[in-house]
Formats: sequence, structure tokens, C-alpha cells
Amino acid sequence: MNNEEKKESYDELVYKANPFADTAMMKLEAYAYFYGLNPQKATKARVLELGTSFGGNLIAQAINFEDNYYVGVDLSHEQIKKGNEIIKKLGLKNIELHQKDILTIDESFGKFDYIISHGVFSWVPNDVKHKMIEICNQNLNENGIAYLSYNTYPGWKEASKVRDMMMYVNKFYPNLSLLEKTERGRLVVEIFKEQIELYPDLKERSKGYLEWMDSVLKHKNYYLGHEYLEMFNDPLYIHQFAELADKNGLKYFTDTNLKLSMATSYKKETVEKLQQLSGGDNVIKEQCIDFILDTKFRKSLMCKKSQTEKLNFSESIPNTIIDTLYYVIKNKIEIAELEDKVLEEALKHLLSKKHGEFQIEDAKKFLEDKDLNQEQKDKIVQEIRGFILNNVITGNLNFYLTRIERVSFVENETYVPEKFIKYVEVILSEDGQYIGIGNFKNEIFPVDTIELLLLQQLKEPTTKDKLISELEKLGLKRMVDGKEEDVDPAEYLEMFLEKYENLNFFKRK
Ligand SMILES: C[S@@+](CC[C@H](N)C(=O)[O-])C[C@H]1O[C@@H](n2cnc3c(N)ncnc32)[C@H](O)[C@@H]1O
Repeated sequence: MNNEEKKESYDELVYKANPFADTAMMKLEAYAYFYGLNPQKATKARVLELGTSFGGNLIAQAINFEDNYYVGVDLSHEQIKKGNEIIKKLGLKNIELHQKDILTIDESFGKFDYIISHGVFSWVPNDVKHKMIEICNQNLNENGIAYLSYNTYPGWKEASKVRDMMMYVNKFYPNLSLLEKTERGRLVVEIFKEQIELYPDLKERSKGYLEWMDSVLKHKNYYLGHEYLEMFNDPLYIHQFAELADKNGLKYFTDTNLKLSMATSYKKETVEKLQQLSGGDNVIKEQCIDFILDTKFRKSLMCKKSQTEKLNFSESIPNTIIDTLYYVIKNKIEIAELEDKVLEEALKHLLSKKHGEFQIEDAKKFLEDKDLNQEQKDKIVQEIRGFILNNVITGNLNFYLTRIERVSFVENETYVPEKFIKYVEVILSEDGQYIGIGNFKNEIFPVDTIELLLLQQLKEPTTKDKLISELEKLGLKRMVDGKEEDVDPAEYLEMFLEKYENLNFFKRK
């Protein structure tokens, strides 16, 4: 298949462009800093996305960070045309999407602080893959960060069987559309799954295989078609990826899922074995982790080779770095009863901070008036740093460097800028099938027409009473235990305001 055919496959079964939290500038900046690099500030950066489809990933960022500049390229005319229409509706001036083949990008396309590409690398022919890596070096500023995600072995060995099955049943029907092929493929996976389940011994033996079939069947057609039936789907091992980066002037340094890159969170025996097997080499260690976890997907970060000596692969993070970052709770963290009651209280205090956000500084403040000497306080702070690190690696805490000021709703003072209102309008219109909506951290969130109505009222500063009277006109209902109940407008409004404060929609006049 040549690039012309590739373009058609995405024109025909279009790929919804959702924002991806792992590609947000704030996240990439924090990861680079965590590893010892000095990346470009996340709020003053030039960003390139390869294979941007409708640009949904970039739009979420462009709307939130006016001082950043975003450029997206994609081969698909349809997707770029639609993406540009949406950008026009939103009135964004800091983003441009180009219908362009990755193969045609050269140095003259400019330099960027962040180059990202999600869900493209495994699905393009080798020449495009190589070009993508080349771009990540040639078009990257010296302190720049590149993000590429891809399917990986050994996890994809199992999935390859399902892909082979779906490809085989379409082998004799080359003229079917990708959607028709996807539907045929889906049907046949269902048939084989049912047949396996008829035989208890086979069912038991094929547990992993069946689970994989199940997970495949849960995907929507656009995803299933492109993931399983594209001409190209070439997973690779992390060691092969790191070698490719190395040959192209880049240094692979981590996955955005830190559990794939850092051994610290595993059991002591595993840490020791990984150390013995890798002799401290980060790529060998990660390859061993992938063999243990059967990893299927990776989200790799790279920098220029010139930055290598700044990188810290020791898994021991300097206090200055831990203390500068701030943390946001992602998954609920339970604090067990601890012998050291002050430590236990300090941890509980941190985890109960407003918006689930805290810094080491908050722990220091908490300890100020405790009846402890400086040495005891320092020891507790050090324990807290270890706790934070562990939860950062296991993914319970997100971490960021740049702090975005959160503006609360204040009657007759704050308002919601037009671009945010239009963003929600677009998502609730038929364009919502093309792009997803993301906040400043590129996290997807749900929106509905009632919220849109309130946001429209907030175009100018207003009062709670006025908003409540709008809600009263609607007579809101909700279902509780199968029965319809009235919704208290004041209660609803409080929840709404908190949600949109957290999303940073409010600005001061
Ligand atoms: C699986 S989609 C991923 C889209 C988006 N990054 C996401 O994850 O939602 C792959 C995208 O890469 C684009 N693509 C494939 N080959 C390309 C090439 N040679 N140049 C530019 N874009 C390409 C396709 O058109 C498609 O939009």
C-alpha cells in the first residue's frame, strides 16, 4: 500500500481525534524535568503533532494556552479540512493544521520544543517510521522533547493472532471498504470465540487469548479498523525502538507510564533481578520489565543526544526536583495506620488538600507547629518524599512543574471566555463525532446541554440567583432508584461551578 491508499483509508473510516493527557505540554515538561532535563516552559512552546487527524489533541491545548503555537500535519484531506473548519469556528489563532505527508517534512518546516505523535508510528510503512524519528531530531530544538507511542512486543504477539484472523477473512475480498472489512473481522472474532468456549479444556487453556478477543470486540469500528486491519501494524520491542532513536541522534529516556521505566515500585526480589540482568542499563531494564509485564503499548519520550549527560537514570530523584514539582491525586490513596502518628497525619493532610493538589512545601508548613526538633521534621519530610515518589511511579499521583492559576467563580466579577463556550457548543454539535473535549491537562471530560446553557449565561459576569432562575425554568429531574426526582437548582449550580472552576474556564474581567 502506498501513501495515497493510506490517505484513503483515513478519509473513509475517519478517526475521532481525542485529546491525550500523556501528550499535554505540562506533562511532557514535568517528565523531562523529573529526569534532569531543562525543557521549554509548557506555556511558551512551539508544538508539532504528526498524524494529528482532526487536530483534537492540539485543539484542547491551543484553547488553553494562548502563548503556545501548535502545528498539526496529517495525510488525510477530510480530517484536516474538518479540523480547520472547527478551528475557525473556535476562532483560534495559535494553531494551524496542514494536509501534508510526513515524508515531505524537512528542516525548513521549522523547529519545535515538543514534537508529539500518538497512535501513528506502528501503523505506517518503514520509510515513514524512519522519517518520523528523523523529524524528532531534525525539527526539535536542542532542549526539546519528542513523544512517540507505538504497539510493542511481547504483548502484541497475542494481539497479532487476532489481527491475522481478521486479515485472513478479508483476504479474498479486497474491494470491501475498511468499514465492511472491520465488520466482517468483528463477526469472525465473535464466531471463533464462541467456538473456543464450547470446549471447557480449550476454554481454560485459551484464557489469555479469549480475554484479548473480548477486549478487541469492545472497540469502536474506527479504532478496530485502523488498529487491526491497516496494511501496517508493526509492533517492536523497546530495545529496538531505543536503538532506532540512538541511530538518529536521539536518546530514549522514559515511558510516560513510569512503571515501565522504573523498577523501584516492584517487589525487592524483582528490583534485584532487574538490576542483575540489566547491570544498570536503562533500556535492558525496561526490556526485562516488558517481558515480565507482557507490555503491549508504549509511550516513549526522547531528547537530543546532546542532553544525555543531564539525564538521571538512577531512580533516586534529587530533593530539589521532588520539592519543586506539585502533585495531583489521580487514584484514591489509602493511608495505613503508621507507627509515626505525625507522619500519618501529615500524609492525610496532604491528601485532603483542596483540588487534590499538594507540594512538599505543604508538608513542611504542616510540621511547623509540631513539637519536634528539626532533625525529626527533616526525617518525616524525607519519608514523605519517598511516599510521593512511589505513588508517582505507580501512577496514583500526577505531577507537574508549571502551575496554572485557578480562578474561582465570583459573582459579578468572573466570566467564561467565548472560546470555551464555543468549544462546548462544537462538542455538542455534530462536530463532536470528530474531536473530543479536553482540559488544560488534555484530560477528557463530559459536557451536556444544561451546562452549555449555564456557560452561555456566564459570557458576562453574573450572579448565582440569575443562574438559578435559568435552571428553575428548566425544571431539572433525575432518576433515583427508578423514580423521577426534582433536582435542587442551587445544589446543581454548586456542582457545575466547581466542575468548571477545576477545568479553569473562569477568567477575571
Ligand atoms: C491511527 S490515526 C491517529 C490519529 C491521532 N494521532 C490519534 O491518536 O487520535 C493515524 C493518523 O496518521 C495519519 N497518517 C498516516 N500516514 C501519514 C503520513 N505519511 N503523513 C501524515 N499523516 C499520516 C493518518 O491519516 C491518521 O490520521
